[in-house]
Amino acid sequence: MFKYNEVHKGDEVSYIEALCDRVERSLDEGLLPVDVFSDEKVFRAEMERIFTRTWVFVAHDSEIPNSGDYVLRKIGLDQVIVTRDPKGGVNVLLNHCRHRGTEVCHQDRGNASHFKCPYHGWIYKNNGDFVGAPDMRQAYGGRLDAKEWGLLRAPKVDSIHGFIFACLDENAPSLRDYLGGAAWMLDCIFNLHPDGMEVLGPPERFIVRADWKSGAENFCGDAYHVGTAHYSATLSGLIPGDVRETGPNARGYKFDGGHSFIGHALHDWFGPPFAFWGYPPEVQEQFDLSRFDAQQIEMMKKVPPTIGTIFPNFSFLRFPQPARSGEFPMAFTNIRMWQPSAPGVMELWVWEFDWKCAPQRHKDDSYLAGQFGFGAGGIFEQDDTAVWEGIARAATSPWNRRLGTQLHYGQLRVEPDPDWKGPGEYYPSIYGEYCQEAFWRRWLDDMRKGGAGQ
Ligand code: FES
Ligand SMILES: [Fe+2]
Repeated sequence: MFKYNEVHKGDEVSYIEALCDRVERSLDEGLLPVDVFSDEKVFRAEMERIFTRTWVFVAHDSEIPNSGDYVLRKIGLDQVIVTRDPKGGVNVLLNHCRHRGTEVCHQDRGNASHFKCPYHGWIYKNNGDFVGAPDMRQAYGGRLDAKEWGLLRAPKVDSIHGFIFACLDENAPSLRDYLGGAAWMLDCIFNLHPDGMEVLGPPERFIVRADWKSGAENFCGDAYHVGTAHYSATLSGLIPGDVRETGPNARGYKFDGGHSFIGHALHDWFGPPFAFWGYPPEVQEQFDLSRFDAQQIEMMKKVPPTIGTIFPNFSFLRFPQPARSGEFPMAFTNIRMWQPSAPGVMELWVWEFDWKCAPQRHKDDSYLAGQFGFGAGGIFEQDDTAVWEGIARAATSPWNRRLGTQLHYGQLRVEPDPDWKGPGEYYPSIYGEYCQEAFWRRWLDDMRKGGAGQ
């Protein structure tokens, strides 16, 4: 049996290599070592091998619609300024001055043509170029190379349906290639109307004392927890129906690269009004289905994707839920980032979205429905984060560490549907934990190889 202390004698690199060997052996047996969570060495390796190399979501177009708009975001531990420059381009800039390194921007959002460093006053354009500094002649003989001394820029920035992603590895594949078959799914989720979706407010941010991977893997494919962790929502009458039906009505969509989605057979479960996630007729009538293939339309009518994760830490949720007590459930769209802060600690960022074309009443209700369940005060969010914090504690348990405890990831195998005509694989049941396994195998791959660009 693995002994934690033996491995800790080695240096950090060999520790990670040994851990990866152990994780691979465990996954082959339907297990996962508990110490992949909430561990300092693992966390440092993740920051270097995953978050500086994969595509990470940073902002939505509708958050920075105008020239000069900016928001502060995170890529792993790095704080970045996401700006809209006068040419309409999006720049993802490291928020550290090139002079002595302090942050040049201290506001979560705003509009600025330039950023002036608060320490000595170096000034940068909102595209990152250096433009000047106090006492240029006396200090620098009048010139500094603007390109050389600009803010560091993410070498790769791209978007899909307004969702902007950045990648710090210039050798990484394109965003579309990175997403692979999952892009086909994102088309269904975000491209139903040519005007797209918009944020309904700034993101909520709150600290959760859990590992970022607990949220990411849960949203990959864990419908098994719903009947237990969220049963209080049924007992208290906060939602109509019985949440214990969520698992049996869940299906799975698995794509290459660790990207996975849960789908729900809403049409069969709730009845005919629930085609297209249960959007009301005034919204559904505006959808443009001409851009989708037959499999996509069939899927959105019968088993739409309801929850999902794009590796590493971008997740999606769209589910029918009441906006007000006693009202008929309606669809909300919630986007979240499991933002790593420290070993076993994440900042959870949560946005509510709706279609730009939707009536204001629908936007208001959609926001309320999303916040009712998810977000800092959401009833489901409370259930989830409470149990995920327990996983982080299990990972730091000296008893678990001494024994090398492994967690159970080995539900009975489920076979994919051979008649599926879309990309990836469709599974008629969510039991089997194949989506979570795919997430961990992608994690393992990146931890071994150093990420997408290598
Ligand atoms: S640290 Fe920014 S100007 Fe000196
Ligand atoms: Fe949950």
